[in-house]
Amino acid sequence: MIALTRRYHFSASHRLHAASLSDGENREIFGKCNNPYGHGHNYVIEVTVKGPLDRFGRAADIAGLDGVVERNVVRPFDHRNLNTEAPEFADLVPTTENLAAVAEQRLRAAWPESLPALYRVRIFETRNNIFEIGSV
Ligand code: NI
Repeated sequence: MIALTRRYHFSASHRLHAASLSDGENREIFGKCNNPYGHGHNYVIEVTVKGPLDRFGRAADIAGLDGVVERNVVRPFDHRNLNTEAPEFADLVPTTENLAAVAEQRLRAAWPESLPALYRVRIFETRNNIFEIGSV
């Protein structure tokens, strides 16, 4: 088995705010991330697939992998306000933990049989904040 990781970028804004909590509770829990006007991140998403090599010695058709990630994650999120423009976050706080879960669900739902198994999704929110969902 060989694992292959591809890295993609998108920029988006978010505000950490739970409608079920008071403004004060939101400020207490989410701190500056609860700023009413939101803030942005230059997210990096890494998608890892794992499987046997194909008959050409490739772990995956990279163009096929790029297509599924770009159509389902990069384009829908890039230069968007996650709170208001990504339907999953209508009732879900767009923490990067939740963003990683949503990205992984989107990829799984659209995953073509021609690609090896989706093994891991990792999102870098900043240089120091990294969130990972694996299938292990
Ligand atoms: Ni943030």
